[in-house]
Amino acid sequence: MAGASFGSRVLTLRDGAAVDVRPLTSRETAGLARFAASLSPASRAFFLPHAYDDATLARHVARNARGSDLSLVTAAGPEIVGYAFLWEFDLRFPLLGLGVADAWQGRGLGSALLDLLIAEARAADREGIELTTVPDNIRARHLYEGRGFRVTGEVDNVAGDGRVVRELRMSLTFRPGTISQRRLFSPPQVSRAAPA
Ligand SMILES: CC(C)(COP(=O)(O)OP(=O)(O)OC[C@H]1O[C@@H](n2cnc3c(N)ncnc32)[C@H](O)[C@@H]1OP(=O)(O)O)[C@@H](O)C(=O)NCCC(=O)NCCS
Repeated sequence: MAGASFGSRVLTLRDGAAVDVRPLTSRETAGLARFAASLSPASRAFFLPHAYDDATLARHVARNARGSDLSLVTAAGPEIVGYAFLWEFDLRFPLLGLGVADAWQGRGLGSALLDLLIAEARAADREGIELTTVPDNIRARHLYEGRGFRVTGEVDNVAGDGRVVRELRMSLTFRPGTISQRRLFSPPQVSRAAPA
C-alpha cells in the first residue's frame, strides 16, 4: 500500500535543519500548490510534473491512498519545501520525480529524498526506477548519476502544462539483467492506457 502505509519521518540535513517527510494526502494539497507556485521559473522549467488544480491534486491523493503511487511531501514548519514521488509504484520500474524549493536547494535535501525513494523501491522488491530529465539539468544529472542511474534513451515527456518535452530517460536497475518496460511518460491518469 505504498503512500498509504508510509509513516511520517524526520530528515536532518547537514546544516542541522530538520524537515518532515510524509505522504501526500488531502491535508497537504493547498501547501503543495503553494510550493509549486513558489518555484522560480528556472526550477519550474525543470519540475512541472503535473497541474496543481484541485481535480488533479485530488487524483494524485487518491492514487497515493490506494497504493498506485508513493507520493511524499517534505515540510519545514507550515511550508512544503520538497515533493518527491514514485509514480506507478505497483509496476516493476516506478517513475521518479523530485523537486526542492529554491531556498532549500544545495543543502542535501534532494539527495536525502532520492535515497529515501530508492530505499522504498528496494524494500518493496521493485526491479529498479526510471525517471526523465532535460539534458541541461546538470545538477539533477549529477545527483542521479551519482546514485547509479544511467541514460537509456530519449523520450517525449508530457509536462504538467501539457507541453511535450524531449528528455533523457534514465534508469537505475537493482538486479543485473533486468530491463524496464516500454511505458508512457506522462502524469498517471485514472483512465490512462496501459503502457505499450
Ligand atoms: C535537482 C534537485 C532535486 C537537487 O536537490 P538539491 O537538494 O538541490 O541537491 P543536493 O543539495 O542534495 O545536491 C545533489 C548533488 O548535486 C550537487 N550539486 C549541487 N549544486 C550543483 C550545481 N549547481 N551543479 C552541479 N552539481 C550540483 C551536489 O554536490 C550533490 O552532489 P553529491 O551528492 O555528489 O554531493 C533540486 O536542486 C531541484 O529541485 N531543482 C529544481 C527542480 C529540478 O531540477 N528537479 C529535478 C527534475 S529531473
